[in-house]
Amino acid sequence: MKMKQLFDQDTWTYTYVVYDEKTRDAAIIDSVKEQFDRDAAYIKALGLNLKYALETHVHADHITATGQLRNEFGCKVGVSEHGGTNCADIQVTDGQVFKLGEQEIKAIHTPGHTNGDVSYQIEGAVFTGDALLIRACGRTDFQQGDSGVLYESITQKLFTLPDDTVVYPGHDYDGFTSSSIGEEKALNPRLGNNKPKEEFMHIMDTMDLPKPRRIDVAVPGNLVCGLV
Ligand code: FE2
Repeated sequence: MKMKQLFDQDTWTYTYVVYDEKTRDAAIIDSVKEQFDRDAAYIKALGLNLKYALETHVHADHITATGQLRNEFGCKVGVSEHGGTNCADIQVTDGQVFKLGEQEIKAIHTPGHTNGDVSYQIEGAVFTGDALLIRACGRTDFQQGDSGVLYESITQKLFTLPDDTVVYPGHDYDGFTSSSIGEEKALNPRLGNNKPKEEFMHIMDTMDLPKPRRIDVAVPGNLVCGLV
């Protein structure tokens, strides 16, 4: 599987295009509305057949381009079955597999940042959205977030993947582009090095973060696949 990492500077969001080299079947993960023109041009330039526009979760910080991508390419939009979006073509379930040629993307339900987070695994890598970030993780104080649930998702699901699995997050604010399961298991300050669940929950539940500046437009916008 081939992969391209793209960046939205305004919201520090990573978008990923994955594709099978032979058939050119492709998927885009976590698109951003403002980057629709860039991404559509890139997909066309590479001659890709965009089959899926997948979301790791219903974002609070940016509006998705999935609806526009579906209009342009006829792809299917996939959002977690727990995401509450009526606009999605596919209500993504735990373990669901998406085929690109002979290759596969496997959905892993990793709730906790929101109740509908999905990580997407390909051979050798996993796209973790806001569940697991590089040396961090997504906040758990809105959208039915739950620090105890996030701890279980990361330690019982993501940390059971092979150590050399590359971690591609939904955001990074320090200039890093990827990590690995082994690195995060050892070095993530919130729950690496076998930190107990209670300590993780205390860290997450006492963060007192400001409300995301776009949440009031982003969440409703994403519930209609960004067609606002
Ligand atoms: Fe998020």
